[in-house]
Amino acid sequence: MLKTRKLGRQGLEVSELGLGCMGMSQWYGRTDDRESIATVHRALELGYTLFDTAEAYGPYDNEILLGRALAGRRDRAVIATKFGFPMKLKDGTTAEADSRPEHVVEVVEASLRRLGTDHIDVLYQHRVDPKVPIEEVVGAMAGLVEQGKVRYLGLCEAGVATVRRAHAVHPLSVVQSEFSVWERNLEDGVLPLLRELGIGLVGFCPLGRGFLTGGVLRAEEYPDDDFRSHDPRLQGANYDQNTAVAAALRALAAERGLTPAQLAIAWVLHQGDDIVPIPGTKRRSYLEENTGAADVALDAETLAAIDLSVRTELVAGPRYNDRMMAYIDR
Ligand SMILES: NC(=O)c1ccc[n+]([C@@H]2O[C@H](COP(=O)([O-])OP(=O)(O)OC[C@H]3O[C@@H](n4cnc5c(N)ncnc54)[C@H](OP(=O)(O)O)[C@@H]3O)[C@@H](O)[C@H]2O)c1
Repeated sequence: MLKTRKLGRQGLEVSELGLGCMGMSQWYGRTDDRESIATVHRALELGYTLFDTAEAYGPYDNEILLGRALAGRRDRAVIATKFGFPMKLKDGTTAEADSRPEHVVEVVEASLRRLGTDHIDVLYQHRVDPKVPIEEVVGAMAGLVEQGKVRYLGLCEAGVATVRRAHAVHPLSVVQSEFSVWERNLEDGVLPLLRELGIGLVGFCPLGRGFLTGGVLRAEEYPDDDFRSHDPRLQGANYDQNTAVAAALRALAAERGLTPAQLAIAWVLHQGDDIVPIPGTKRRSYLEENTGAADVALDAETLAAIDLSVRTELVAGPRYNDRMMAYIDR
């Protein structure tokens, strides 16, 4: 059974691993709602409480799917969802990121309907919106807390200045950002600030979008609607260099009787008990394997070996293409 971790100082407590649900609806190949729902149910049995979704995943489908999976089980789950991400809609048009207060309120009403619930446990702004001062955004989010529609607040991929300003309006419980053995950009500024302010970190993509497990192909082998087709780390010479990094992780894992996914997730868990990784999967077999990471104790020698052979400086290519990187607030 998974243990729990406290995130922030407002009372949010979640399982030490969360389940990333995005891939159940989008970005990582064929989807299978039956298996996805079975995965959510198995996660509850294994002690997961934190389930991560967003308006943008699908768009919309993922919240509906999670709502279906949690029907009759809502009280066992901490639902985290997000607003304010640029989305390609099913009719081919694009909805720009929009964090205007009136839009935040509308999106939350729609998310509640799709999730089939009367409250969202964790509400994140999905990307900082340069058009709307963060004070106004968090002010709207705080209003939803007052109304009981939202319990705890978070931001995604927010930088130091934004987190400070937001936290002054209403305490944040969490910031969600990419954080993994091969993506450590938070260590220099954001993570120390979160610790200063007493805000938890939810680390997404702990498996490097699956690449660290060894099963991911070159970018050009995926169709356009698969995230991996646009991932600079999977392109050309970057892919070759990064394959060597993943191989080093695999070798360290094998020496310790672990799978690479377990070692990668265990590394995140060892960075502090104020951090919760949310590995994504749409299948029970990976979920069960990944859950094993919670029982792994890494000694100083292993952590040092990881630092030596798997770290951001050895990784080729940025984690997003230029268009997506422009949304990251640093
Ligand atoms: N806030 C944000 O901007 C943001 C951005 C990205 C993601 N997220 C959240 O973070 C969650 C996790 O990130 P992610 O899903 O993008 O990346 P991830 O967790 O690093 O990797 C997910 C990929 O790894 C595969 N996988 C999982 N366990 C595996 C195992 N044991 N062996 C081999 N392959 C395995 C999955 O395959 P299958 O899909 O086939 O199971 C999927 O393709 C998402 O689901 C989403 O909720 C948030």
